[in-house]
Amino acid sequence: MTHEHRDLPLAPGSQAGPGLFLSFEGGDGVGKTTQIHRLSGLLEAAGVDCLVTREPGGTELGAEIRRLLLHGGEVSARAEALLYAADRAHHVQTRVRPALARGGVVITDRYLDSSVAYQGAARSLGSQEVRDLSLWATQGLLPDLTILLDAEPGIAARRAGERAALDRLEREPSSFHVALREEFLALAAAEPGRFVVIDADRGVEEVAEQVTAAVVRLIRSRTESPGGHVPQADASHSQVPHPTGGAWAALSAFAATYGGREVGR
Ligand SMILES: Nc1ncnc2c1ncn2[C@@H]1O[C@H](COP(=O)(O)OP(=O)(O)OP(=O)(O)O)[C@@H](O)[C@H]1O
Ligand SMILES: [Mg+2]
Repeated sequence: MTHEHRDLPLAPGSQAGPGLFLSFEGGDGVGKTTQIHRLSGLLEAAGVDCLVTREPGGTELGAEIRRLLLHGGEVSARAEALLYAADRAHHVQTRVRPALARGGVVITDRYLDSSVAYQGAARSLGSQEVRDLSLWATQGLLPDLTILLDAEPGIAARRAGERAALDRLEREPSSFHVALREEFLALAAAEPGRFVVIDADRGVEEVAEQVTAAVVRLIRSRTESPGGHVPQADASHSQVPHPTGGAWAALSAFAATYGGREVGR
């Protein structure tokens, strides 16, 4: 498996405005929605303007696309890739960029890494093509931080299986989930500056502490040396806006409150 995409020019979310763009990734049932709910609760309690959204389905159009993708009939591989990209294009243009422009924190439940990892695991389309399609769709917008919740597929499937109905992708065999996990880990290894990998095979509280610590590190990297180190291994550091304004005051307060719980990466 090749991951040449590490050489592509990156465009972290903060280039779309003074906000922060966070994505949660990982296989089905690893705890993405649970952790996003907890993190957004903490951020909102600290007074941070926070948009929680998801892909597919973060917009009205996206909800229709999501229904077609997850609960409709057969979708051929290229049509599937284009539908995810269409959802992403509309989501980024109408929700994500406006929120970043006003200085908010955007937390998305899945983003382009899911498309790349799922296609990579399915072996039907090239990872590079799928990534390029998403970058075209989003005009190059990448998260400032991607939190990969990593767990052994059996555990994730058991958690997911406790819910009533499994959707189309969750009915795939477990060898698919093993390959999917490997794809996600390979993506994280290729972009260590953007990704944080968290062991999701632990209690909700323990995982939440790791998530909070990762976000605190991101905020500190921006507030303590703006324009200097940002968690992004690319040549665009100089374009990262200087964090200013009320949004960053709230983020700094959040980092001060939870910074004491710093846990090793
Ligand atoms: N750390 C954890 N330990 C035990 N159970 C958990 C943990 N995190 C989440 N769960 C439970 O596992 C199930 C799946 O969690 P959740 O819906 O957050 O996962 P998800 O990654 O969003 O799944 P999906 O990809 O299907 O949306 C839920 O019932 C949730 O309560
Ligand atoms: Mg979920």
